[in-house]
Amino acid sequence: MCGIIGYTGKCDASGKLIKGLKVLEYRGYDSAGIAIERNGATEIIKCAGRVDKLQAFASEVKTSHTGIGHTRWATHGEVNDNNSHPHQVGKVTVVHNGIIENYRELSEKYSLTDKLKSETDSEVVAGILDFYYRGNPYDAIKNTVKELKGTFALGIIFQDIEGAIFAVRNVSPIVACVGYDGSYIASDALALAGHCDEYFVLPEMTIACVKDNEITVTDFNSNTVKLEMITADFTDNEYGKGDYPFFMEKEICQQPEVIQKTIEKRIKDGLPDFTADNIDDEFFEGIKSISIVACGTAMHAGLIGKGLIEKKVRIPCCVYLASEFIYTNPIIDESTLLICVSQSGETIDTLEALKYGKRNGAKVLSIVNVRQSSIARESDRVIYTNAGPEVAVASTKAYTTQLSIFFLLCGTLSLLYGKQTEIEIREFIREVEKLPAAIDSLLKRKDEIHKLSRSLLEAEHAFMIGRGYDYPALLEGSLKLKEISYIHSEAFASGELKHGTIALITDKTPVIALVTQSGLKLKEISNIKEVQSRGARVITFVKKSLNDGLINCDFELPDTIDELSVVPSVVALQLLAYYVSSDKGLDVDKPRNLAKVVTVE
Ligand code: M6R
Repeated sequence: MCGIIGYTGKCDASGKLIKGLKVLEYRGYDSAGIAIERNGATEIIKCAGRVDKLQAFASEVKTSHTGIGHTRWATHGEVNDNNSHPHQVGKVTVVHNGIIENYRELSEKYSLTDKLKSETDSEVVAGILDFYYRGNPYDAIKNTVKELKGTFALGIIFQDIEGAIFAVRNVSPIVACVGYDGSYIASDALALAGHCDEYFVLPEMTIACVKDNEITVTDFNSNTVKLEMITADFTDNEYGKGDYPFFMEKEICQQPEVIQKTIEKRIKDGLPDFTADNIDDEFFEGIKSISIVACGTAMHAGLIGKGLIEKKVRIPCCVYLASEFIYTNPIIDESTLLICVSQSGETIDTLEALKYGKRNGAKVLSIVNVRQSSIARESDRVIYTNAGPEVAVASTKAYTTQLSIFFLLCGTLSLLYGKQTEIEIREFIREVEKLPAAIDSLLKRKDEIHKLSRSLLEAEHAFMIGRGYDYPALLEGSLKLKEISYIHSEAFASGELKHGTIALITDKTPVIALVTQSGLKLKEISNIKEVQSRGARVITFVKKSLNDGLINCDFELPDTIDELSVVPSVVALQLLAYYVSSDKGLDVDKPRNLAKVVTVE
C-alpha cells in the first residue's frame, strides 16, 4: 500500500522517479507525486489520479538530480491533490508508506494543527521532522521516529542538504541500491530492475543516507550497519505486458510455465524434496498440529492445503484469516507448525500473525513469492514460489504456485508420518507433474470461456456452487469475479443452499457450478437441478471424465485426480472473471479501491 521511490545521481531525477512510480503503481493508484531538489529549493508536483496524469505535469519540471516520489493508496484523508504525497513542512519533505496511529496526539503535542495542509497522518511526520531539524538530519530522524506509533517507510529530503535522500522504516519495506547511474530507494525491488547488480533491504530502525555513489546505513547509536546484499536477478523486461492487453491475462497464461518452475526443483527421483529450501525431516519433528494463516487468495490456497493435509497426513489443520488470528486466542505452542502464505510477503495481517505464532513457540514455515520480503525474513523456513513478478492486483499465478507447494508438502508430510507409502506418493507426484500440460490444454480453449462469460455481463449477482474441493476453488473464483468485474458473487457448498440461500435464486441469477469430484458427482447434479428448477441459469464446468451426459456441460475441464482438479477449475474461473471485466471496459489490472500489497491492518 503506497509505493515510494527515491533517486539521486547524474541523471534527471524526475524521469527516474516517474519510471519507478509506474512500476510501483500496483501498490496504490489513488494519487501520485514527486518532490525534486534544485539549488537549495524543493519543488513538488502531485495530483489525484494515476502516474500517467502526473507525468504530463512532470514534463514541465526543470532538471534536477535528486528527488523522491510516491503513489498512494488512501488511508487518512480522501483522494485529492492536497492529500497526495510528498508532504513538505519547512525544510523537510517526506513520502510515507504505512500508518501513523498516534498522528492526532502528535499533531497537538507539536502544535502542528494550524500548519498542516492535508488530512494525512504522513504530513504530521514532516512537521515533527522539521521541528527537530537544526542542521543534523540524524538527530531529527531519531527524535521523530521515537515518537511514532505504527508502521512506516519514509523517504526524506532536507532542503539544505544537497544530493542526499534519507530513509528509515518500521515494518513497511524499503530496498536500496547503488546503481549504474546513481542510487535508489524503493518500496519494492521491482522498481530497481535494470538499475543495479545488487541491492539490500534496509534493516528496520536504521537510517540510510543515500548519495550518488554510496549509501551509508547507521543504527540509532550511530554504528555502521553491515548490510546483506541480494543479487538483482531480474530484468527490466520481465515487467512488461508483452502482447497482452493486461498483466492479468499474461499472468494467467504464464501458469503452466511457473507451476513447472515451482515443482521441478522440488521433485527428486519422483518424490517431493525440499532440501534445496533448507528443509529436512528434522524440521517437522514434534509437529502435532498445523495452522495456516493468510489473506484473500492466499487464504483460499490455504483452504485447499488444509483439506489435503487432513486427508493425507491425518493431523489437525486449521486455516485462519490472518486479520482475525491474533484476536481469536488460537491454540498455538511448540508443537504447532504455522504456515504463512503470501504472494507479496508484506501483508501486514499475515506478518503480525506470524510474529504472534513465533512468540507462542510455533515453528514458522512460509510460502512466499517475493524474495527477502518481510514474511520470508521473519520465518524459520521459507519455500519460495517461482511465480515471478505478479503485477495485476488480482492474484492468479501466485495462487496456483502456492497450491503446487501444498501438493508437494502434503507428499513429504504424508511419507514422514507414515500415512502413505512411497509408491502412493510417487503416483500422486506424477499427477502433480501433469498439471502444466493440463492447464496448457485449457488455455488453448480460452475463447470458449470468453463466449460463456458474455452471459454474465449484465448480471448484478452470481452464485457459485460445488462440493468437496470444488467449494474452496469456487471461493477463489468468486473473489476473482467480485474484485475485477464488480459483480456481487458468492460461493456456496452446494449442500448448504437449501439451508437458506436458495431463497435468493431466481431466473435473474446466474449460477456457476463446478463438477470435478468423482464421489460427489450425483449429489452435485441434484443440487444443480434444484437451482435450475427455480429458474436459475446454470453455467457448468465439468471434468472430462465426469462428463457422461448426465448433466449439460458448458465447459469441459481437463482431467486430473480429484485432489488436483482445483488447479484447472480456478484457471477457468480466472479467465471467466477476466473476460467479464475486460468486456465491461474496466481497468482489469487496477480494480477500484484495491492495491496489490496490503500493508495496513
Ligand atoms: O500478498 P498476499 O498474498 O499476502 O496478499 C493477500 C491478499 O491481499 C491477496 O491474495 C488478495 O486477496 C488478492 N489480490 C486477490 O486477488
